[in-house]
Amino acid sequence: MTVPSLASSLSDSVAAAARRGMADLAPQLRRSAHADFQADGVLAAARTLRRNPRQVAAEVVDHLPEDGLVATAVVAGPGFVNIELADRALLAQLARRVGDDRLGVGTPEAGVTTVIDYSQPNIAKEMHVGHLRSTVIGDALVRVLEHLGGTVVRRNHIGDWGTQFGMLIQYQVEHPEPVPGDTGTMGRLATLYRLARAQFDTDSAFADRARRRVVALQASDPSTVAAWQDIVDESTRYFTDVYDRLGVRLTDADTVGESAYNAALPAIADELERGGVAVTSDGALCVFFDDLRGPDGEPTPLIVRKRDGGFGYAATDLAALRQRVVELHADRLLYVVDARQARHFRMVFDTARRAGWLPPTVPAVHVAFGTVLGPDGRPFKTRAGDTVRLVDLLTEAVDRAREVVAAKNPGLTGAALDERAWQVGIGAVKYADLATNRTRDYVYDPERMLALAGNTGVYLQYAHARVRSILARAADGGDITVDVTATLEPAEKALILDLDAFADTLVEVVAGHEPHRLCGYLYRLAQTFTTFYEHCPVLRATGPRRGNRLALCHLTGETLRTGLHLLGIPTPDHL
Ligand code: ARG
Repeated sequence: MTVPSLASSLSDSVAAAARRGMADLAPQLRRSAHADFQADGVLAAARTLRRNPRQVAAEVVDHLPEDGLVATAVVAGPGFVNIELADRALLAQLARRVGDDRLGVGTPEAGVTTVIDYSQPNIAKEMHVGHLRSTVIGDALVRVLEHLGGTVVRRNHIGDWGTQFGMLIQYQVEHPEPVPGDTGTMGRLATLYRLARAQFDTDSAFADRARRRVVALQASDPSTVAAWQDIVDESTRYFTDVYDRLGVRLTDADTVGESAYNAALPAIADELERGGVAVTSDGALCVFFDDLRGPDGEPTPLIVRKRDGGFGYAATDLAALRQRVVELHADRLLYVVDARQARHFRMVFDTARRAGWLPPTVPAVHVAFGTVLGPDGRPFKTRAGDTVRLVDLLTEAVDRAREVVAAKNPGLTGAALDERAWQVGIGAVKYADLATNRTRDYVYDPERMLALAGNTGVYLQYAHARVRSILARAADGGDITVDVTATLEPAEKALILDLDAFADTLVEVVAGHEPHRLCGYLYRLAQTFTTFYEHCPVLRATGPRRGNRLALCHLTGETLRTGLHLLGIPTPDHL
């Protein structure tokens, strides 16, 4: 059952009260230090009405419905309305959420299909921190959308096509002896890549043979295609292994690489050309954008077909977009990709709109993210200037987590310790990534992300485990009956109001494609719970207060658990 939040009910009441006083206003409620809620909306409305804001505020107060929600409402400052909610209404709301197995979270995404493009590593190359961001942010958005009842189609748009395959395959043909490196890792392919590249750059005869190999691949020469498929399969097994380690829900079925759109590319070019969206310039088929100009003042083109007749990254994205709208019936398209590709997506989306492939009702969003920086504040690289391998970062995080966990639980050993270390280490890496506003760059700092205090995954996992242990210690842990006639301490009120904001927060996460809002919410919730637990004894409480406080503990535990799972973070019962 969907339980509307107290904030939304109150917002309706304030708007209705204003309408009865003949003013139309957006209540603009926010939590405040002076009251449960402060409504700021009167100020803007009074300005439009050219009326005294304090008078309008007084009318709103007079007209508030007497439905038991509001205990007191007073005009404050230049024309705010400060509102205290009735204890009974707060407790009844707590009871409604505790009594619902979805915590009263509705399904506003029901009937909406989202196609989300994320992770997208490249074949024969190591996954790096950029792929971590895309994978982790994408996974969190998938989970939240599905939790809100949405239909989600995951697309792992892996880079499995391009001229580099010519040199990789040609090198293998000319050097059939095994390349060093374990096939279970990316080691062998990375070495192959390095060797092939070195010869390509120094041996022009080899470079020519590699280019002819590209032509053979494009012409579907059977042995060349088989060699390509082997390389793709080997990389994919490796990616799957990383996803398993990360606990991310991406499978082979979600992988639709760039090559999958090859057959559709000529028609894409033809249609754009016939519709006058693309024009030939210097032999290449291009779409121009008047408002996007390069440093020379010339309009920037999106190249649909190159001079040599080949298709590239842009054409593939156009074909993929059209397929997602036409065949997958997307109502919303999301692309979780590095912010440096902003211009590419602007041009792809614009082109698709001009071509009529992207109806005005279907939003296409580049869910852009910033760069992960190293300790020196520069894009994260090894000392030698190579990309840092994602697997190495994950191994390091789990190793560090093992130390943190072992220090807290000397009795924990073997497989149980390994499991806990994985839960904490992976949780820390994901949380550090998700908690920063995604458009910002952030410094990858394994020490800080595993701190027990502060806005970290470990802190929240610990907060969750602590609530669980409080509940386990209550002998009557099962009895969480809410007594709505009790009176509330300020710390209890604050906790009820925070808990009540969970569903609204999930809606905000979807609206802005911003998982960090959920992180911030859970962090505040954990802090509010700590204050509550310091001021309000739970296990020593008697009478109706005990049941109410146990209900607060229970709902806090469930909200933390659900919230962390929506971020893809495990919640061990002990830490
Ligand atoms: N594979 C690309 C890269 O690593 C990202 C692909 C993003 N998705 C897309 N539909 N273009 O840079």
